[in-house]
Amino acid sequence: MSKIVIAGGQPLVGRVRVGGAKNAALTAISAALLARGDVYLENVPNISDVEIMLEIIKELGSQYQWVSQDCVKINSPDNLSYTTPYQQVKKLRASNLLLGSLLARVGKANIALPGGCNIGSRPMDLHIKGLVNLGAKVELDHGYIKATTTGLKGGRVYLDFPSVGATENIMMAAVLAKGQTVIENVAKEPEIVDLANFLNAMGAKVRGAGTDVIKIQGVPELKGVRYSIIPDRIEAGTFMVAAAATRGDVLVENVIPTHLEPLTAKLREANIIVEEKDDVIHVKGEAEFKPIDLKTMPYPGFPTDMQSQVMAFLTITPGISIIVENVFENRLQLAEELKRMGAKIKVEGRTAVVEGVPQLQGTQVKASDLRAGAALIIAGLIAQGETEICNIHYIDRGYENLEDKLTGLGARITRVG
Ligand code: UD1
Repeated sequence: MSKIVIAGGQPLVGRVRVGGAKNAALTAISAALLARGDVYLENVPNISDVEIMLEIIKELGSQYQWVSQDCVKINSPDNLSYTTPYQQVKKLRASNLLLGSLLARVGKANIALPGGCNIGSRPMDLHIKGLVNLGAKVELDHGYIKATTTGLKGGRVYLDFPSVGATENIMMAAVLAKGQTVIENVAKEPEIVDLANFLNAMGAKVRGAGTDVIKIQGVPELKGVRYSIIPDRIEAGTFMVAAAATRGDVLVENVIPTHLEPLTAKLREANIIVEEKDDVIHVKGEAEFKPIDLKTMPYPGFPTDMQSQVMAFLTITPGISIIVENVFENRLQLAEELKRMGAKIKVEGRTAVVEGVPQLQGTQVKASDLRAGAALIIAGLIAQGETEICNIHYIDRGYENLEDKLTGLGARITRVG
C-alpha cells in the first residue's frame, strides 16, 4: 500500500497552476452522452475519478480518447446501454450523474443506489422527484433506481434542498424534454453554471444558472462541440490554505477568484493576506493567525469540500474556532486523526470546537476521504517531524500531481510503496 511521507515545517513558496475542476469534469463527461457527434472536453484533470467515469461510459458504449494531456474526445452512439451496476457506483458515487443524461438520450437508466459513504448518507430522493416531474417512471428495485420514459416533458420542480447532483441530473434530463422546465431552489455552484454553458454550447437552451431558478426550453437534439472546463476551485483552495498554514507565500494560478470568495473572506478574517489579480490569487501567511467561525453551506456559502483543509489550519491558530458542518454529517471525523497529531478539537454533532495549539506533531494517520486526505497533507506540512499518510488512493481521486506541485513549492513530500 502506498503512503505519503511528509517532513513538516517548510513554508510553501512559489507558484502553482491549478487544473480543471473534478466535479465539473465528471458532470461534463455524463452530459457529453447527450450529444450526437464528437465532444472535445478540454482542461480535464488527470485524476482517478475521471478515469473511472470514462471507463464507465465506455462500458455503456461511448468511445473516448485522450487527444492531448488534458483534452478528451467523446462520442456516444444512439444505442447506448443504460445500466450502471453497484460495482461501479461503489467505485465512483458521481456515476449517479448518468441518470439524467441516459434517461434523456436513451429513454432508460438503471443506476445502483449509492447508499452511505465515508462523508455521510447520499440520498437520491431529489433527483428522483425531479425526473418524475418531467414524466419519467421511476421505481426502486433490488437496490437500483430504474427510470424509464417514452418521452420526457418539461415540468416544474422545486428542490427542498439545493442539491448539486439533483440540479445537474434534472438539467441534463430537461434539455431534451419537450417544452419548458422550471427548476426552483437549485444549486448555484460554479459547476452548475459550467454545466449550463456546456449544454448551451451543444445547442441546449438553459437560462438562469447561478441564480435560484433555472429555466430550460427543450430541444430535439444536441450536437458535438469543443468545451473547456472551469478551473478547480477546491484544488486552488487547498493550495491557498496550505500556503497560509505553512506561513508561506504562494501564487495560485489559473483560478477564477470569484469562485473562491467564500474561502478568501474566511482566510482574511484569520489574518491571512489574500490578493486577487485576474486569474491569480496571492496568499501570504505572515501575521499572527486569528480564530474564525465557519458554517458550511451551499454556494455562495462556505464549501463543505474546503472544511477539512481549514480545520487542519485552525489546529494551529491561537484561540477557539468553531466549525459547523451542515452538508455532510460525517466530515468532522477528521478531528480524530488530527487529534492524534496533537490537535485539540471537541466534536459534538455537527459542530467542532478547535482550540489552537502551538504545534502539531507528525505521526501515522489515515485518510478517510478525499478532502480529509488533503487536510492531513496540510497537517503534515505544518507538523513538527515526519507524518505518514495512508489510504492515499482517496487523494488520487481528486488531486492531479499533488506531490509534484507541492514539491515545486518547497515541500518535503514523497510517495513510498
Ligand atoms: C456534490 C459534489 C461534492 C460536494 C457536494 C456539496 C460532485 C461530484 N460532488 O456532491 O464534492 O461536496 O456537491 O457541495 O459534484 N441530498 C438529499 N437528497 C438528494 C440529494 C442530496 O437529501 O436527493 C442532500 C445530501 O444528503 C447532502 C446535501 O443534500 O446533505 C448536499 O448534497 P449534494 O449537493 O447533492 O451533493 P452531491 O451532488 O452528492
